[in-house]
Amino acid sequence: MISVQPAQAACGASVRGVDLSAPLDLATVNRIREIWLKHQVIAFEDQQLAVEDLERFTLLIGPRGEDPYIAPIPGHKHVVEIRREADETSRLFAENWHSDWSFLPSPPAGTALYGCVIPPVGGDTLFADQYAAWDSLPAALKAAVTDRKAIHSARRGYSPKGAYGEKDRAAGRSMAIRFSETAMRTQSHPIGRIHPETGRTALYVSAAYVIGIEGMPDNESADLLAQLYEHMGQQQFIYRHRWAVGTLVLWDNRCLVHKATGGYEGHRRLLQRITIAERGLQAA
Ligand code: SIN
Repeated sequence: MISVQPAQAACGASVRGVDLSAPLDLATVNRIREIWLKHQVIAFEDQQLAVEDLERFTLLIGPRGEDPYIAPIPGHKHVVEIRREADETSRLFAENWHSDWSFLPSPPAGTALYGCVIPPVGGDTLFADQYAAWDSLPAALKAAVTDRKAIHSARRGYSPKGAYGEKDRAAGRSMAIRFSETAMRTQSHPIGRIHPETGRTALYVSAAYVIGIEGMPDNESADLLAQLYEHMGQQQFIYRHRWAVGTLVLWDNRCLVHKATGGYEGHRRLLQRITIAERGLQAA
């Protein structure tokens, strides 16, 4: 019997009473989707999942997402590792607020992340509720960005000159990042983006991937974006997830931003990740 323990935060819940390594019936899957859409980020603790279990479970939630710029693990073309070795000195991966791969024409609806090796301290993941961020935007700022589109690009991270580019590779990052010139591409999405399943509007920008606002001079858009970035990561929107080995976290990229945190120097951290496309869309 599934039970839900909401987090003492704007979003987030712990889901108990389901073994994700076992086959799940339709009613259970529908219930999990319902909980996910309501709480935005949900954690299943004490799961013992082989990679195949992770693949099977995520396919029940939605089709495979596209994962540019991170090579998959051998034999599992949709599973990537979020990895940091104990002695690694490269900058933290994903330390700025972002919604996964928002620079794609059809960004992933969701992401599943499974804790394999978790440090004894630090390494939490922060999630910020972007429905609440949109709903609480100051009126003048909301009016200035309503019906506007932000220009997203992977260039700051994944181009050869980006944060995970040539210099980063030379510095010896352990994660299988594959930077590329394709990261220079751009893709626009509404700043107030309507969630296709809930119909609610969420703020959909991030300092990691947004490089401007369509049809607006850079100085004007930089000022508006700075105000949005300051607003979107406020404490009242945040759920802090503390990891344990065997926890699977499933989040909704359409109404959340997230970021990694450090504080585990000298310890290894390893998680497996699968992105989930919108229903009806399937990555190659
Ligand atoms: C991610 O953004 O997928 C990684 C989050 C984390 O490492 O905590």
